[in-house]
Amino acid sequence: MNENEAIGIFDSGIGGVTVLKEILKILPNEKYIYYSDSKNNPYGDKSDEQINALCDNIVQQFIKQRCKIIVIACNTASAKSVKYLREKYKNIPFIAIEPAYKMVYDYAYKNPTLVMATKGTIESEKFNLLYHTYDNHKTILLPCVGLADLIEKGNQDEIKTYLKEHLEQYKGKIKNVVLGCTHYPLIKNEIKEILGEVEFFNGAPYLAKHLKDVLEEKHLKNMENKKNTIQFIDSSNDEQKKKRFFEIIKE
Ligand code: DGL
Repeated sequence: MNENEAIGIFDSGIGGVTVLKEILKILPNEKYIYYSDSKNNPYGDKSDEQINALCDNIVQQFIKQRCKIIVIACNTASAKSVKYLREKYKNIPFIAIEPAYKMVYDYAYKNPTLVMATKGTIESEKFNLLYHTYDNHKTILLPCVGLADLIEKGNQDEIKTYLKEHLEQYKGKIKNVVLGCTHYPLIKNEIKEILGEVEFFNGAPYLAKHLKDVLEEKHLKNMENKKNTIQFIDSSNDEQKKKRFFEIIKE
């Protein structure tokens, strides 16, 4: 492996762009390959075996493309498959996102908290361990079935209707919102429209910092001062997705 090889990053769709944006802020000189598995979106309702197989396929492609490290920019895939992937691919480091629930424990323990994530994440063993370790006893776990899918499709009216239906009951009762799916930072404003002023907790900035530390520690960080490159691959070859992805990167 050498420092010129790429960082592979994947999600079930374009949601992981919210993770890549944080990474770009502190690792601006790398070569990135982003894989959006929109053909198999959503991951949230799939079995562990199905998600393992999908992740396995993506990881094999990244290895063929000589990636030096892999970022799982999908909470569901991290929760269900990172252990399996780390055991199977021992020579490549994996950096995995997780809901920023520990941050609530560290910085806003006393406040009533809503964790929004996919059903898969909320039911996973990995998340349950995190939750029970840092439980502030004022937390509601909300599996947002179908929400990542709506964000992926990008229809504002449908997103607003969904949020109204599922979040209105918490208005005025919640202070912390954990964005436990990488698609959700894309709808922060829409969430605020329903819940009012809340504090968001997103694991992406911490993942970015951790990625940088690991690259440095393993001497894999690109030391050349050249601008990053981003290759976007979508499993259903959706040109619209590609367009939206690069629009969000530029925002
Ligand atoms: N962005 C994925 C996550 O963080 C969405 C999962 C899905 O496809 O349901 O969980």
